[in-house]
Amino acid sequence: MGNCVIKNTFGLKVEAAHLLEYTSEEELEGFIAEGKVKVPFLHVGGGSNLLFMHERYDGTVLHSQIKGIQVTAEDDSEVFVRVGAGEVWDDFVAYCVHRGWYGAENLSLIPGEVGASAVQNIGAYGVEVKDLITSVETVDYKGQKRVFQNAECAYAYRNSIFKRPEMKSYFVTYVNFRLSKLVQFKLDYGTIRKELADAPSVTLPLVRQTIIKIRQSKLPDPQLLGNAGSFFTNPIVSREKWQSLLAQYPNMPYYEIDEQSVKIPAGWMIEQTGWKGKALGNAAVYEKQALILVNLGNATGAEIVALSEAVCHDVASQFGIEIHPEVNFIE
Ligand code: EPU
Repeated sequence: MGNCVIKNTFGLKVEAAHLLEYTSEEELEGFIAEGKVKVPFLHVGGGSNLLFMHERYDGTVLHSQIKGIQVTAEDDSEVFVRVGAGEVWDDFVAYCVHRGWYGAENLSLIPGEVGASAVQNIGAYGVEVKDLITSVETVDYKGQKRVFQNAECAYAYRNSIFKRPEMKSYFVTYVNFRLSKLVQFKLDYGTIRKELADAPSVTLPLVRQTIIKIRQSKLPDPQLLGNAGSFFTNPIVSREKWQSLLAQYPNMPYYEIDEQSVKIPAGWMIEQTGWKGKALGNAAVYEKQALILVNLGNATGAEIVALSEAVCHDVASQFGIEIHPEVNFIE
């Protein structure tokens, strides 16, 4: 049995039997042809959205180290780029901002890698990565290449076709993006506009800096305090349910989704239950943002699961709403 340490931003000690890292599609195809990709396997990005429930993963962990940002087409108004799944997401955002390409800046500082961004449909401050993706290139565990156009990816809030259990055998190798060369900002979420109010002019680097500042003020640095960003997704409820909650909690924040549904911030509900800043064992609800669970030092995966269950239970009893983890639990 091997003894490979698996990186994860929760800072949990996890080992796997085998770790296969590859720097090209050909190398991955070689591993497959040699029979090295045995069931069970787990494909990871930067480990920023994973909760290992045990200290050992008895299988093969695959990790893409495919790098590179290549322009595939461009004109005066837009640019198309093909990016290796193993590029660090925020390095790609920084590259776009540096080149003067608009679209990715609101997604600054999200941890993780480009391949996982397309699986998870990462999002922040009014932008989701699906808005930028044109297609996703994959190799399946039998070595077959398959390209999924954006419309085939079934993108939804923090969801895609690649999260379905039967799709875990497709490994993302490259993601293709379209960015704009024309000035376009999305500044309507939260306090972005307020933060920019005194700036003489709004520029791409300034928007990136502002997003980074907002994130750093609310979200813990995984190097200092293990976490996986938002632990739960924000639940979407019917208008009837929202109306009845609003009657009881007139200051409740919410986002209208469409004529039937409204999104309620789970962080706000968790704060109302009194869990914000509280610990259970070595796991805690982050003191500045209740949607984030943190590892206080030596937490085990089981302790984080226990805390998440206690939080879900109390939100359900107080609000009659089930909240669900955004983080992927690994058995
Ligand atoms: N809120 C509270 N108390 C809290 C946390 C939030 O009252 O402890 C309230 C805020 O005051 C605000 C509302 O809830 O009115 C929403 O809070 P915030 O803007 O911080 O965003 P969020 O809904 O908690 C989502 C994403 C984040 C993303 C931010 C900004 C999900 C699951 N999370 O969080 O994404 O950065 O919006 O766009 O949708 C992630 O996915 O890991 C992540 C960090």
